[in-house]
Amino acid sequence: MFISFEGLDGCGKTTQVELLEAYLETKEIEFVATREPGGTVLGEQLREIVLHGDKISPWAEVAIFAAARAELVEEVVEPALERGAIVISDRFVDSSLVYQGVARGLGIEEVLQLNLHTTKGLLPDRTFLLLVDEKLSEARVGEERDRMERESAAFRRQVEIGYRQLAEMFPERIVVLDGTQPRELIARQVRQALEDAGQL
Ligand code: TYD
Repeated sequence: MFISFEGLDGCGKTTQVELLEAYLETKEIEFVATREPGGTVLGEQLREIVLHGDKISPWAEVAIFAAARAELVEEVVEPALERGAIVISDRFVDSSLVYQGVARGLGIEEVLQLNLHTTKGLLPDRTFLLLVDEKLSEARVGEERDRMERESAAFRRQVEIGYRQLAEMFPERIVVLDGTQPRELIARQVRQALEDAGQL
């Protein structure tokens, strides 16, 4: 099973990945946790370029995220799924659909096409989208900001709208959760959804 967590910066997804990991450990269920961009040697190098480099044109940006993802699929995700492990990814293709497809204006369909090639058609089985609004995201992102986090409130608002749009496009796959709830409550909702799907 392949699970991803998505949402605006500061939505709490990294905490939820950690809580799910802790739960799977207690249940002695094998899992591999990873993050995007990153998760491989090349991916971490690309992360440095795309998050801490200078200005990058939109198609170059989406291509860098896609390259990091292609490497992650080949090196980490596919081998783990083949051995029957659960894979948990902190962000996956939906981040590109929303940040580059919607907020940068490249188009959801165009960015999806590029990504389906680079990931060999692989999409998560379940995606947990933690909804917070642009203002809460802004408040939770600290002083030290990467290149994406330095974007304007209008950009973040586009990301927020994009995620809601995506949840409507993929209702079977994307589980929408209120990211303003206490973290333990969200963690329970995640476990419940996975149990309901027969995965835990
Ligand atoms: P993230 O790892 O969540 O940031 P942090 O480690 O600081 O919490 O995500 C990095 C940033 O990259 C985030 O602002 C979203 C952006 N991003 C894209 O724009 N497109 C993508 O395809 C991915 C994976 C991330």
